[in-house]
Amino acid sequence: MVNVNSQGHLSIGNCDTLELAKDFGTPLYVYDVSMIRQQLRHFHKAFDKTGVKYAISYASKAFAIRAIDQVIAQENGHLDVVSAGELITAVQAGFPMEHVSFHGNNKSLAELQLALDNHVGTIIVDNFYELELLNKLLPQQKQPVNIMLRIAPGISAHTHRYIQTGQVDSKFGFDVQSGQAEQALKQVLQNPKLNLRGYHAHIGSQIMAVAGFTALVQRMVQLAATWQEKFHYQPQVLNFGGGFGIKYTNADHPLAPQEFVYDMIQTLKKEIAQTNLTMPEVWLEPGRSIVGEAGYSLYTIGARKIIPGIRTYLSVDGGMGDNIRPALYQAEYQAVLAARPEATPTETVTIAGRYCESGDILIKDQPLPESTPGDILAVLATGAYGYSMASNYNRVGRPAVVFVKNGHAKLVVKRESITDLTSLDLNYL
Ligand code: LLP
Repeated sequence: MVNVNSQGHLSIGNCDTLELAKDFGTPLYVYDVSMIRQQLRHFHKAFDKTGVKYAISYASKAFAIRAIDQVIAQENGHLDVVSAGELITAVQAGFPMEHVSFHGNNKSLAELQLALDNHVGTIIVDNFYELELLNKLLPQQKQPVNIMLRIAPGISAHTHRYIQTGQVDSKFGFDVQSGQAEQALKQVLQNPKLNLRGYHAHIGSQIMAVAGFTALVQRMVQLAATWQEKFHYQPQVLNFGGGFGIKYTNADHPLAPQEFVYDMIQTLKKEIAQTNLTMPEVWLEPGRSIVGEAGYSLYTIGARKIIPGIRTYLSVDGGMGDNIRPALYQAEYQAVLAARPEATPTETVTIAGRYCESGDILIKDQPLPESTPGDILAVLATGAYGYSMASNYNRVGRPAVVFVKNGHAKLVVKRESITDLTSLDLNYL
């Protein structure tokens, strides 16, 4: 799972991780840019083989910084944003805005205005309130606004319940069962200022099995066919969201994008053939699977607490502030010592974060070779929902981010300093 250089050190993008830690400090997020490009190319290749028109829209919530948006643009990806912050990041990255989709279950009027002002390609409408807000802004629009309707398809994906989204009892999207999706569709079709491009659905995240995705394809085609008969509307696009699982530990066995895409498109072709629909474009929104495995977190090991017969805690200089996933989702990671990733483990330790909370445990029961304070620990596959969910708990600044490639490291996000952290505070007395 890891690369080792001639000195036996963990190497990322041909950069020695001990050097990276020395040059940029820890905690540090390190991204192997070639891996990110490779993942996107896998998706593109998989689709190119199918002959279907498509777009791979990177869900930037997984990791939304200017540098990644620039890489995605270079790789002909599209982009999903869910807030004014992600949207402006895309603008600052110089991202082609016609390839941006705007998501969210509670977009504000100001955010919708911002999206229109910046010529965002598609607004993915989530609910009736959003339609009302949009209606307020439409009179000033010369051209019809491109939208899609987000549907809650009534499919539960097999994943942690916090990251399931497609089931009926979800805050996202128009419910099908109760007729709300159909009602929204009627409203939209009657509005000449709205150009409906098609339907969107997303069933959840970190999904390993293809069955949920093929079930979604079937469901969406059935719905599209029913609504075509009723309203004579043919969707130009079906957007099946993201959610493709990645390998966090050796226990994870994700499918390659080619396998997901192949099965989904086979199902789509079969289903479409049984309807009067013409083949739509297919959009996917992978986030985690584009950046997850390409990212690593480097930490410096500090205190060791040995509770005889019970547990050894090794504390590192980061934790839940830069990776909330273990605390929030019981997510599992694995780590190696950067200086000797291949050395035989001699002890089992629990990797604790530095934050003031007992739940701040990054990894339980990690086998490791002997280590001493000052050693660098690398946690693997932290590229998705790590930096993007980072917080300033305990008034600790967020780590820096470096992109590495062919032996070169480039700082793409600066470390947050104490000056940055306190810069918004004002005196009360
Ligand atoms: N599209 C939509 C509409 C989404 O809501 C999401 C993720 C994605 C695409 C991308 O899903 P991905 O391919 O990354 O699984 N913070 C959680 C994950 C939350 C996912 C939210 N939506 C975690 O750390 O596991």
